[in-house]
Amino acid sequence: MQLSVIGTGYVGLVTGAVFADLGNEVICVDKDEAKIAALREGIMPIYEPGLEEMVRHNVGEGRLSFTTDTEEAVRQSEVVFIAVGTPSLPDGQPDLSQVEDVCRHIARALNAPKVIVNKSTVPVGTGDIVRRWIEQYAPPDHPDFEVVSNPEFLREGSAIYDTLHPDRIVIGAANHNAAMKLIELYAPLERPMIITDVNSAELIKYASNCFLAMKISYINAIARICDLSGADVTLVAKGMGYDKRIGDQFLQAGLGWGGSCFPKDVSAMIATAESLGYDFELLKAVQRINEEQPLYFLSRMRDALGGLSGKRIAVLGLSFKPNTDDLREAKSLRIIAELLAEGAEVRAYDPIAMPKARAIFPQITYCENAYDAATGCDAVAVVTEWNEFRQLNLERLRQAMRQPFLFDGRNIYDPNKVKQAGLHYFGIGRSANAVPFVRSSSQ
Ligand code: UGA
Repeated sequence: MQLSVIGTGYVGLVTGAVFADLGNEVICVDKDEAKIAALREGIMPIYEPGLEEMVRHNVGEGRLSFTTDTEEAVRQSEVVFIAVGTPSLPDGQPDLSQVEDVCRHIARALNAPKVIVNKSTVPVGTGDIVRRWIEQYAPPDHPDFEVVSNPEFLREGSAIYDTLHPDRIVIGAANHNAAMKLIELYAPLERPMIITDVNSAELIKYASNCFLAMKISYINAIARICDLSGADVTLVAKGMGYDKRIGDQFLQAGLGWGGSCFPKDVSAMIATAESLGYDFELLKAVQRINEEQPLYFLSRMRDALGGLSGKRIAVLGLSFKPNTDDLREAKSLRIIAELLAEGAEVRAYDPIAMPKARAIFPQITYCENAYDAATGCDAVAVVTEWNEFRQLNLERLRQAMRQPFLFDGRNIYDPNKVKQAGLHYFGIGRSANAVPFVRSSSQ
């Protein structure tokens, strides 16, 4: 099939690469000329495992190309994916101006019947707005077009895998014919498809992301109870997760959720609900708990160290999660800003995200590795759970430090092993380690 994907962010670029890999002819479009020039040279704008190889291979095979000319790409395509950004406006609502801009181009280039697929995360009701925008900007005798919603559920860091193996494919269309092109396109993946109306598809995306954010905030709230009561949240989560109705994923307590999706989508859902006349109090609490997590972490550090002023702190991990260099809404930003504001000195290390962090915090010290970061420090704070931090030599880490405090913001260590290495351990919701875990009934 001949496709174009407009917007070469995470969603657009990965979608384009995967559809090309499945044998379609794909034109990826972006208005950013430098980005397109780099992509033509095989240079990726983002770090995503497997993406560069897939892009190079499909460009080499002649199935994937890049352009800044939206209208030419639309003219050549039967199916046009909109995958541009929808950043938050100050009131929490997503800014749809880039979507409108794309609609204007699509309208001018409608040379034959087309299916317009919205992959950008947009509030319920946007499908109708997209249809109206295209009709408004198209010439009166324009050929037919259908607007379909096809939300994306890929995660950064495993975007290629997720796109090839989605749990479900959601297709929101006004009628079955409109959905057919997408059913055909996705058929090779052999994954469950759910066909809905456009509004429901749009809402499935927000409802899913907000539910996952809620699950994380829920376990983070339970972690607070664990710290207050002497329980271990990792065991509580394990015990909950075996219940199939709950499931064991997204129950890792820690510093909370960041990134380009959950924060934006939770705010948007709250704002959309409000505009429809519903006060989504539950989600407001989910958001508040998330904002509190890094502050709670800092308060424990402050208490243990007797203040942060003059302390030297190693921050391990800067990206909002492992396997990405994305710093958007990363917990490291809040934590480092607060440490600096309180007069601490910060030594940071991240396997990938340091070049981006340097632009935000030029005043901190960027290190070669975790041991280098820990050198002369009063505390080590694990902020992002990169795999390479899981098997650190804790004795070596301890020897590099001036005071033995380890703050495990992602609960990746066995507290006993940390203690055996001579370090004081502070996880999130793991105060149970102060008391023996197994007690006999006679005690
Ligand atoms: C999220 C969703 O998982 C994807 O399904 C969705 O497509 C995407 O948003 C999107 O809307 O585009 P992503 O933001 O890449 O994907 O990252 P996640 O792996 O979901 O992690 C989000 C945040 O939650 C991270 O900061 C992570 O550290 C945190 N998290 C995740 C936890 O604190 N605990 C957990 O148990 C899981």
